[in-house]
Amino acid sequence: MALTPPDADTHSTAPTTATSVTRHLFRTKSIERILADADHPRYRLKRTLSAWDLTALGIGAIIGTGIFVLIGTAIVGDAGRPGAGPGIVLSFILSGLTCVLAALCYAEFAAMIPVAGSAYTYSYATLGEFLAWITGWNLILEYGVACVAVAIGWSGYFNNLLKLAGLDLPDWATHAPGGPEGGIANFPAAIIVLLVTVILVIGIKESARATGIIVCLKLAIILFFIAVGAPAVSPENWSPFMPNGFTGVTAAAATVFFAYIGFDAVTTTAEEARNPQRDLPIGIMTSLGICTILYVTVAAVLTGLVPYSQIDIHAPVAEALRLAGYKWGAAVVAMGAVAGITSVLVVMMLGQIRVFFAISRDGLLGPWLSVVHPRFGTPHHATILTGIAVAIMAAFVPIGTAADMTNIGTFFAFTLVCIGLIVLRHTHPHLARPFKTPLMPWIPLLGVLSCLGLMWQLPALTWQRFVWWTIAGIIIYGLYGIRHSKLAEAQTTETGTSSSTNH
Ligand code: ALA
Repeated sequence: MALTPPDADTHSTAPTTATSVTRHLFRTKSIERILADADHPRYRLKRTLSAWDLTALGIGAIIGTGIFVLIGTAIVGDAGRPGAGPGIVLSFILSGLTCVLAALCYAEFAAMIPVAGSAYTYSYATLGEFLAWITGWNLILEYGVACVAVAIGWSGYFNNLLKLAGLDLPDWATHAPGGPEGGIANFPAAIIVLLVTVILVIGIKESARATGIIVCLKLAIILFFIAVGAPAVSPENWSPFMPNGFTGVTAAAATVFFAYIGFDAVTTTAEEARNPQRDLPIGIMTSLGICTILYVTVAAVLTGLVPYSQIDIHAPVAEALRLAGYKWGAAVVAMGAVAGITSVLVVMMLGQIRVFFAISRDGLLGPWLSVVHPRFGTPHHATILTGIAVAIMAAFVPIGTAADMTNIGTFFAFTLVCIGLIVLRHTHPHLARPFKTPLMPWIPLLGVLSCLGLMWQLPALTWQRFVWWTIAGIIIYGLYGIRHSKLAEAQTTETGTSSSTNH
């Protein structure tokens, strides 16, 4: 391959032969370089977040549309997909265990490489540029598309609340087109996304503080539901426990996986953490642990309150209380859900923005996305782009489609993180690891198996969309990323320098 002078146009880093293409695809970014890039003054973010902020951000991202909305469909089932019935308790345990396995791998990476890109950055250090790009591309599903489902869930509970107050918004203004409601667009979903976008442009500390307050409120609402609902449980509602057998339980586990997504959003704020090595593993494991216990309890109380076939699919938690005779309790839960789901939106949007930021900093997306606002210190371009794209999709896409796409992308990203951890233990056994995943390599191997197992439960249409999404990602990398990669540029420059020195 011809050597390129250091001052050459970045376009000249395009690979020319089959060998060089392979070298480009599998080039890895050294951990030293990843840390140095993150510390460059041009990209440096403000370090303001404490261990409590990180745990709150984790819980803020986790408890939301999954437990307040999607649990209904997972229990009852929908077209072609069997519901779990009261066996939803097992679905939450299954999904929670899968996340704990992945979280243990995340915690080792996050403490070792505390930079904004999360799974994308970990893949860049271990599996090479191409798989890193594919991971980042899937993180867009995990965070960006998740925001779409979350905003639609928010809109559902918001409309419920308005109804309780006697204000009925018309169906055409609150549903995506194509459904039985005759919707034109889900306007409340789009509007909340735009409002959150404005808050995020202004600054993360302000958002983290607001998230902390909402997280306390959200925990209080969940505990309230458990406290009011538990005494009213009729154990006969738990029978039959698995009306559709274990198939129903595993299908529902793939759906409620959405409820856990977000613990890893903590890692995307690594560059804003005061003491990331210690606090990131604490934030990840504590938030996931608390949520798993709460979810299993909520699932047991919910299915004990009313016969599973009567569970509502739009606002199941509030409706179950209403059916059990607690109308005031239903209103309290609905209000808490609106506030709680808002905090999910904030953290998931933050996650998406920081992933864009990290990918752009590496040159795999345009440099425009990693510009930091001179006064607010936030990546405002990435924030505005994310806000507009999510708002448009939230207006026009149905919730189930967005949730399934989020899940499939996240399962895939988690799988790559687990594999990456095994690879890094082999390639860099002596790196400082402030947190070490126990029982290597069994934890990541089980993580891979359980992610792929649950991924397999998702509908064929979701798989088809996922294949198209992946193909689109490969094309964008081929047309842009492979030519503009900063790593390629640096490696070409280094080769050029050493070559001229040798002569
Ligand atoms: N886990 C988040 C939710 O359920 C994404 O809303």
